[in-house]
Amino acid sequence: MNNQPIGIFDSGIGGLTVANAISTLLPNEQLVYFGDTAHLPYGDKSFDLIRSYALGITDFLLKEKNCKAVVIACNTASAAAYELLRDQYKGTVPIINVIDPMIEAVIADNDIHKLGIIATKTTVASGIYQEKLTRRKPSLPFAALATPLLASMIEEGFYNDKISHAILESYLANEQLKDIDALVLACTHYPLIKEEIDEFYQHRVKLFDSAEVVANKLKLILEKENLTSESKQVEDVFYVSDYTESFAKTTAIFWGKEVKLSLKHI
Ligand code: DGL
Repeated sequence: MNNQPIGIFDSGIGGLTVANAISTLLPNEQLVYFGDTAHLPYGDKSFDLIRSYALGITDFLLKEKNCKAVVIACNTASAAAYELLRDQYKGTVPIINVIDPMIEAVIADNDIHKLGIIATKTTVASGIYQEKLTRRKPSLPFAALATPLLASMIEEGFYNDKISHAILESYLANEQLKDIDALVLACTHYPLIKEEIDEFYQHRVKLFDSAEVVANKLKLILEKENLTSESKQVEDVFYVSDYTESFAKTTAIFWGKEVKLSLKHI
């Protein structure tokens, strides 16, 4: 079991931010990454549709790729499908979502006076962050803002340029986010524009992204379940449900070399 790979999925390139952190923290693990590029963005789709995609991908990762754990490296899919996947695969392999480790990180920080959350429309409308924060730390004021253009913008390769600056500025200037001193990047695509966000706030707002917290959580779970691999036998593999230029580019940036993308329809 220990040499089996770890499955990671997202609608597209966003989850690569998580995969990259996992690969750094757990260099002995082989990763199988799935970017559901044929169906992105997830952020404006219904729960039902996202659930059917998530089930198809998880099935592929477990049955065809024999993964020993699955990381839902997407906030929208975590909001829509985590409980379903967890219950469906109970007692077989650990399923890890990106929302719970982020909530833990935020509530452990006692220096925050007002928290902002930016995410896709579906994540914000699900109310999942709002509900968990209210329950776990009722004293913490927060505001959640849907920023629906950001994931598609990033997926199309617009980051660190004039277009991304203009769009970001118009979202972040929203009255709701006034006076925040911390911001959750509640979409795994957003670490790709973290520096721009940091510049917008002139480094005065603490930014939380899920990559490292999720990698740490996965490490703990693998250790607890005795699933860690001693050495990496096989290279990481990447699947997409549709070939996109930006996916090829971004994997090359993160992995420091061109990687082969295999096509898999789900
Ligand atoms: N990266 C995803 C998330 O964390 C989804 C972006 C999208 O496909 O809309 O929510």
